[in-house]
Amino acid sequence: MKAKMILHREFTVGQSDRRLFGSFIEHLGRAVYNGIYEPGHPEADDMGFRKDVIKLVRELNVPIVRYPGGNFVSGYNWEDGIGPAGKRPVRQELAWMSLEPNTIGVNEFAEWAKRANTELMYAVNLGSRGPDAARNIVEYCNFPKGSYWSDLRRSHGVENPHNIKLWCLGNEMDGPWQICGHTAGEYGRIAAEAAKVMKWSDPSIELVVCGSSNARMPTFASWEAEVLEHTWEHADYLSLHIYFGNPENDTPNFLGRSLEMDAFIKSVAGICDYIKAKKHSKKQVYLSFDEWNVWYHSLGQDRKIEKWTVAPPLVEDIYTMEDALVVGCMLITLLKNADRVKVACLAQLVNVIAPIMTEHSSSGKAGKAWRQTIFYPFMHASAFGRGTVLNGKVNSEKYDSKEYCDVPYLETVTVHNEEKGEVAIFAVNRNLKEAMDLEVDLYDLGGLKLIEHLCLNNADLKAANSAAEEKVKPAALSGARLENSGGKIRLEARLPPASWNVIRLGKA
Ligand code: AHR
Repeated sequence: MKAKMILHREFTVGQSDRRLFGSFIEHLGRAVYNGIYEPGHPEADDMGFRKDVIKLVRELNVPIVRYPGGNFVSGYNWEDGIGPAGKRPVRQELAWMSLEPNTIGVNEFAEWAKRANTELMYAVNLGSRGPDAARNIVEYCNFPKGSYWSDLRRSHGVENPHNIKLWCLGNEMDGPWQICGHTAGEYGRIAAEAAKVMKWSDPSIELVVCGSSNARMPTFASWEAEVLEHTWEHADYLSLHIYFGNPENDTPNFLGRSLEMDAFIKSVAGICDYIKAKKHSKKQVYLSFDEWNVWYHSLGQDRKIEKWTVAPPLVEDIYTMEDALVVGCMLITLLKNADRVKVACLAQLVNVIAPIMTEHSSSGKAGKAWRQTIFYPFMHASAFGRGTVLNGKVNSEKYDSKEYCDVPYLETVTVHNEEKGEVAIFAVNRNLKEAMDLEVDLYDLGGLKLIEHLCLNNADLKAANSAAEEKVKPAALSGARLENSGGKIRLEARLPPASWNVIRLGKA
């Protein structure tokens, strides 16, 4: 199979915001306890954080981590997680039917974030709580000193404010599964009042307003419009969430799902534009895709898990080669929409639908930390996807699947890092049987040379990694050719069937 692309320096979508490569840690399952935090493990540091997990998070180069939920946050009293460890309450956690010991709270997590070279994106509880608790945590975290909450923080040994810049006004507030969910009108009013007092406490913060939990919600679109009507003045971003699965084992259809993500982004951007026009506003509300991933492998297993325990092994999907391809297509989709999507969080980061897993430690044996298949496309996009996004003119054959029409066999986007003089072409070959001979003509990008062609593929689409073995990991392919002739550069590369590829070019 053949595919062609024309790329020009002027085919710009926009700058990829560094926060596009964010992730998410919720007090859920073994994400925190037995994930990032495991005192007693040989890899634990002075605070009980696992150094081997931190090393893998640093490998992913994650600029922000959304915390502490997720569904968890809608029943969370943030004050339970501050102050002397021995005095913190153990609570029934109603979102996931677990016990929450509150050993880790905002101060410990902020310290973990520093060690992992990332920043916090903090979600406040607008389910069981409201504007008062929200403005208090802003004061606790961001006010330097001389007020009740800031001095309480200092008395807890944290002299300098955390200066958290990005805050989510609740989580999935339209969902009937949410602890104290709301109608759009109720949420819009509460979010607007919370936003007002949070920004009065610290005018430098940015706020994410909840959009629908997903595009299939019955209230989708009208929810966004009504919430934005109420919050327009205070909102900087509107959230989107999406999870994909392949329970019917229909891989061509599964690989087409990123088209649905693209349509979702375009619809929500359209709603923002509609409210902007309606309000005769000059302001732009951007999008925060703060939960996205593949999620379905663990759904059956989760129904069998015992309730009311600390850190049960919930939502532990083990990812396959085909999941990595879908994640790759989703990363490409986020980049293609970089003009509107400024924040995105792969949900989640450790153990819970995560690129990083930790093995259970048992009877004297210390568990290992390991990389899932989806670790690699994310790592590549985070490492090489920063710069100006270019959307090439693509000529690729297409197919129809059960739910999607005109799915291009080639899914691709390019990022031009002007500072480094590098170009990265990200490409998924969705053809399960045939290799793709890709021909790219590049214009006005200066003299270039081939750095490398990285490829993730495995003939077995159900191949997965484990603590014992990495069956799916990237390799460098030889065979790509680059020819400079006059103002034009011609690149030729062969993309194996069902593969994720990064073709990196640098200054000649
Ligand atoms: O990421 C897992 C869960 O998915 C989150 O808690 C919730 O926001 C979403 O439904």
